[in-house]
Amino acid sequence: MQRLFPAVAGHVETLSIYDDIDLPAGADGRPYTILNMVSTVDGKTTLGENVVKQPIGSDVDRQLMVRLRVHVDAVVRGAGTVRASPYYPGVPEELEHVRVQRGLERQPLAVVVTGSGDLPVDAPFFRAAPRRPLVLLTTRTPPARMMKLFEWADVEFVGDDSVNFRKAWGLLYEKYGVKRLLCEGGPRLNQDCFAADVLDEVFWTVAPRVAGGSMDLTMVEGHGLLQPMPRLELVHAYVHDSELFLRYKRVRAQRAD
Ligand SMILES: NC(=O)c1ccc[n+]([C@@H]2O[C@H](COP(=O)([O-])OP(=O)(O)OC[C@H]3O[C@@H](n4cnc5c(N)ncnc54)[C@H](OP(=O)(O)O)[C@@H]3O)[C@@H](O)[C@H]2O)c1
Repeated sequence: MQRLFPAVAGHVETLSIYDDIDLPAGADGRPYTILNMVSTVDGKTTLGENVVKQPIGSDVDRQLMVRLRVHVDAVVRGAGTVRASPYYPGVPEELEHVRVQRGLERQPLAVVVTGSGDLPVDAPFFRAAPRRPLVLLTTRTPPARMMKLFEWADVEFVGDDSVNFRKAWGLLYEKYGVKRLLCEGGPRLNQDCFAADVLDEVFWTVAPRVAGGSMDLTMVEGHGLLQPMPRLELVHAYVHDSELFLRYKRVRAQRAD
């Protein structure tokens, strides 16, 4: 692995690049929130039905994805992502002690956002969870689905037609003690997070592949453009085997006090 920006000579230990990232503990009543996604060079973050058979990123990317979880209290995913990959976004046993040394629980809390309540309650995300997951849903979620979810998860209602992200992030911060939060997509959840202005950083892996097609999703997908368009500033750039590991920070206008 080589660091391109800020430039440094020589090689760095491949799996160590996220070891020393220093995430603030959140402020203004909400967790500090980072997003982690991988795309092809042509910007695709989904590959139709093939994503499990043919992952976008390398094995290094997948290992680094897990290593980012070492830094956070909780990992949030959209229901679409949980339906596509219904496993618990935890860390392997050998990384648990690093979390404990940082004053965190052995495993991050898994959080899922849904309106429909259509979640795979028989899947490992719920049944093999090292911690009871948390489902954020709305009062319009059909009661039969709610009842099933109550059995396998903690449930919070944070909106009527759709989940109110400012409210949800406030609840995670105040009630669940989540000071640092990792969002792992997917693209539709990402749009809502950007629209609610709750994302602080973007970790983006660019895999050296081209998907083509026109049906697949980019990193952020939703109705309408984000206004104003969020502005990002590059924090670091690494390259390993032609795969880029980029970290951007959200730039917010200074408050005129
Ligand atoms: N390349 C990558 O890094 C990466 C990362 C993650 C996921 N993915 C891929 O992305 C695909 C899934 O992405 P996606 O965009 O279709 O789904 P998604 O963003 O994971 O989830 C979208 C769903 O989340 C719920 N949701 C989002 N915002 C909500 C709100 N404000 N209120 C209530 N519910 C809300 C809704 O669930 P309900 O439908 O239940 O109401 C919505 O349909 C999968 O193929 C996955 O493999 C790729």
